[in-house]
Amino acid sequence: MTVAWVKQAISEIQADFQRSADTHLIRFQLPAFPGISFYIKDESTHPSGSLKHRLARSLFLYGLCNGWIKQDTPIIEASSGSTAVSEAYFARLLGLPFIAVMPECTAKRKIEQITFYGGRCHFVPHSGLIYDEAKMLARESGGHYMDQFTYAERTTDWRGNNNIAESIFRQMANEPVSEPDYIVMSAGTGGTSATLGRYIHYKGHNTKLVVVDPEFSVFHDFYLQRDRSITSQHYSRIEGIGRPRVEPSFMADVIDEMIQVPDAASIATLSWLEPILGRRVGASTGTNMWGVLQLALRMRAEGRRGAIVTLLCDGGERYQDTYYRPEWVAENIGDLTPWLQQLDTF
Ligand SMILES: Cc1ncc(COP(=O)(O)O)c(C=O)c1O
Repeated sequence: MTVAWVKQAISEIQADFQRSADTHLIRFQLPAFPGISFYIKDESTHPSGSLKHRLARSLFLYGLCNGWIKQDTPIIEASSGSTAVSEAYFARLLGLPFIAVMPECTAKRKIEQITFYGGRCHFVPHSGLIYDEAKMLARESGGHYMDQFTYAERTTDWRGNNNIAESIFRQMANEPVSEPDYIVMSAGTGGTSATLGRYIHYKGHNTKLVVVDPEFSVFHDFYLQRDRSITSQHYSRIEGIGRPRVEPSFMADVIDEMIQVPDAASIATLSWLEPILGRRVGASTGTNMWGVLQLALRMRAEGRRGAIVTLLCDGGERYQDTYYRPEWVAENIGDLTPWLQQLDTF
């Protein structure tokens, strides 16, 4: 019975994949940077609205193939919200109960989406508490703790199988510069940057992987010092990225460079990007894009032409009552004016 159910569950996920399309790679130019092409991979178009759709699919397949997820196994996850939305989607597909353990400050829209997919939300005061609480709930309910922060780097088929890196390079194939100079990504679990970095090495590309990190995250310090015990008492204000501890999935050795991005610069970039893309994006995309601009400035100063790729991790509709509300931004992030002035020069 269980074996038959697992078989059926796996084919259900494969069929869902078959019904889905790949995400778009959008190209745009900026007059301030002649000869440099910019690309942003729109991960918001996945059915569950973010890049974490890929991870959730992989985590479920990993859990099923490992014998950790069986019929009626409750699924528990620690999340800043996006992964939980995507996992709730797959839990519903398989008819499994799902509980998301998240910080109280998680965007309202994400909570609504988890509930929409039939999931339950369990809140803790801040993101440093999500791991132990999720473990405890899994123990109490006899459920499976997905633990994206440990498994993200290993559940994805990093050599290919339509992972995000393979998809980017395939979509770049007919571009004037088909091998980007840089791919820029931020880190939450670090799973996406691990896949990108490994794939670049595996295929022998000359592309450099640059990881951007928000305030109050330990990833940048860890990258420089390689001390896994570093923690932060403050929590990232950029939802989805920046962690108070060095996550097991964060693979520092595949990264060529890291750039720290002030939170106000990330949020200022959102309003600068809106008329360029014709749409609103989430805060981590602002962090990514600020990093892209720093690299474009460097390329311009060095007289280089080429291409830079980054990710649109999720859409701005999730954050209408936070990052897109000036009063919230003034209170929680601060004055954006100096950053907006810099962006105006682009
Ligand atoms: C909106 C958003 N951007 C970026 C990331 C970072 O992705 P990864 O966990 O693969 O490092 C996340 C992860 O949760 C996210 O939710």
